[in-house]
Amino acid sequence: MASTHGPADTPEQRPTLTHRQRTAPAPESDTAVAPATRDDPERKPPYLDLDRLEARARALLPADVFGYYAGGAETETTLAEAADAWQEWRLRPRVLRGIAAAQLGTTLLGSEVATPIGVAPWAYQGMAHPDGERATAAGAAAAGALMTVSTSANSSLEDVAASAPAAPSWFQLYRLHSPGHTDDLARRAGDAGYRALVLTVDLPLLGRRRRDLASDFVLPAGLRLANHPLVTDEQPRLQAMETPTWTFDEIGRFADVSGLPVVVKGVLRGDDATSCVEAGASAVWVSTHGGRQVDPAVSSAYALPEVVESVGDEVEVYADGGIRHGSDVLVALALGARAVFLGRPTVWGLATGGADGVASVITGLSAELAHTMVLCGLPDVATVPRDTVVRAR
Ligand code: FNR
Ligand code: LAC
Repeated sequence: MASTHGPADTPEQRPTLTHRQRTAPAPESDTAVAPATRDDPERKPPYLDLDRLEARARALLPADVFGYYAGGAETETTLAEAADAWQEWRLRPRVLRGIAAAQLGTTLLGSEVATPIGVAPWAYQGMAHPDGERATAAGAAAAGALMTVSTSANSSLEDVAASAPAAPSWFQLYRLHSPGHTDDLARRAGDAGYRALVLTVDLPLLGRRRRDLASDFVLPAGLRLANHPLVTDEQPRLQAMETPTWTFDEIGRFADVSGLPVVVKGVLRGDDATSCVEAGASAVWVSTHGGRQVDPAVSSAYALPEVVESVGDEVEVYADGGIRHGSDVLVALALGARAVFLGRPTVWGLATGGADGVASVITGLSAELAHTMVLCGLPDVATVPRDTVVRAR
C-alpha cells in the first residue's frame, strides 16, 4: 500500500489539503477542502492516530516531562472526562444537499485562518523540541492555523512572532514578577504584532498535579522562561504565574495597556462569560485548562452551550479540552464555538516531528473535519446549525 494510506501522524503521511495561503488569501472557492478520496479513489480517507502519536512521544521524552505534559490535577477526573464529553453528542446529517467540499477558512476576531482548529497556549515547549515555540509557530503557520503563545515560553514572544511573521497569532498572559512587569509584557505583545491578548483566568493557584509532585518536576537546566525578567538568580517556577488577586477589572485594563482585544480563557459558566463581556472582553474561551486546574470540573463540552447562550451571537466563543477527532470539532462548532484549540495533540506532534509534526496534526484533524462535514451535508464552518447535534441519550 502507498505511504499516503493510514494514520496521518507523520509528515510523509500528511493528507493533501488545499489550504489558503496566509499572505495572499485565495478566493473563497479555493479554500474549500474536498475529501482526499474524491480525486484518488484508491486512497483511504485520512485519520489521525493520536494514541499512536502519544505513545511515540512518551517513548522519546523523559518520564517526568511526559508526566508534566500528559497529566492533570488531583484525581484527573476532569482530564479523563474531557474527550468523552464531546462524544456524548450525536450528529444529525443532512442528505441531498449537493455538498462536495467543506469551507474550513474563517476569521477569528477578524484575522483570517484556513481552519477553525488552532493551537492552545502551552508552556515549556523547549522540553519537547529544541526549537520549541518557534517550531510550533512555523507548523501552525504551514497549516494556516492560529497559534496562541504562552507567557511560559522558552523563547521570547518577539522571537516566536519572528518565526512566522505573516501568520496571525495571539499571546497568552499570566502575571510576571510584578504588576509592572506584567504590564510590560502585555505592551510587548501589542508591539510585536500579536492580534489578541488571551488572559488565562483559571490559575489563581496552580492546580495540585500529583504526577509533578511525585516526580519533583522542574524546568530542565539549560532552558529558561524567556519572557520573564531576570529579577533573581533563581529560575521562576510555575507558581510565579498565579493570579489570585485578579478581578474582572483586569480585562479592560490589559486591553488598554496592550492596545489589543482581550480573549478571556478558562471560563466555564454563563454568568462569568457575561461579566467578562461586560468588562470589555472581545471573546470568551471555554476551557478546563486541560484538566490541570479544578478537579473534578464540568467538561468544556457541557459548559459551552451555556456560555454561548449567555453571551449571544455577537461575541466569539472558543473551546478546548479533549478535542481529538474531526467530529469533536464539528460538535463544538454546532454548539456555538467559532473555533477550537488543541493542547496535547500538538505537544505530541512537536515532540515527534517538530514543525512538520505540529502541521501534520492540524491538517490531519482538519481533513477529518472536512470529511465529516461533507458526510453531514454542511458547506461551511461558519454556518454550522445548532440542530446538527443532539444528545446521544
Ligand atoms: C497547558 N495549558 C496552558 N494554558 C495557558 O493558558 N497557559 C499555559 O501556559 C498553559 N500551559 C499548558 C501546558 C501543558 C503541558 C498543557 C497540556 C496545557 C492549557 C491549554 O492551553 C489548553 O487549555 C489545554 O491543553 C486543552 O486541552 P487538551 O487539548 O490538552 O486536551
Ligand atoms: C500549566 C501552566 C503553565 O498548565 O499553565 O502547566
